[in-house]
Amino acid sequence: PKITYVAPDGTESTVDVAVGLSVMDGSVRNNLPGIVAECGGGCSCATCHVHVDAEWQKQFDEASDEELELLEFTDAFCAQSRLSCQLIVNEQCDGMRLTVPEGND
Ligand code: FES
Repeated sequence: PKITYVAPDGTESTVDVAVGLSVMDGSVRNNLPGIVAECGGGCSCATCHVHVDAEWQKQFDEASDEELELLEFTDAFCAQSRLSCQLIVNEQCDGMRLTVPEGND
């Protein structure tokens, strides 16, 4: 599935991310800016924060309490907030667009 990442500076990159990888993996493996992923996907650093529209959020499992607690401490927390390491790519993600907020470093 092709996913478009909009970096904090507005730069857009569309990359192919394999099913089963996380949205965070898709960014890191393509060297895209803005997602630091300090903990490597362990749901413990919140440096993989992204904003995903409600329509696309439906493609993923709901955020765990652990994820929500981390997100609440981020600067750019909003209703669209998710940790991208917790979003596992599936076929329905094709065409998804998400925004990487400032503050992941
Ligand atoms: Fe650390 Fe997602 S990579 S919480």
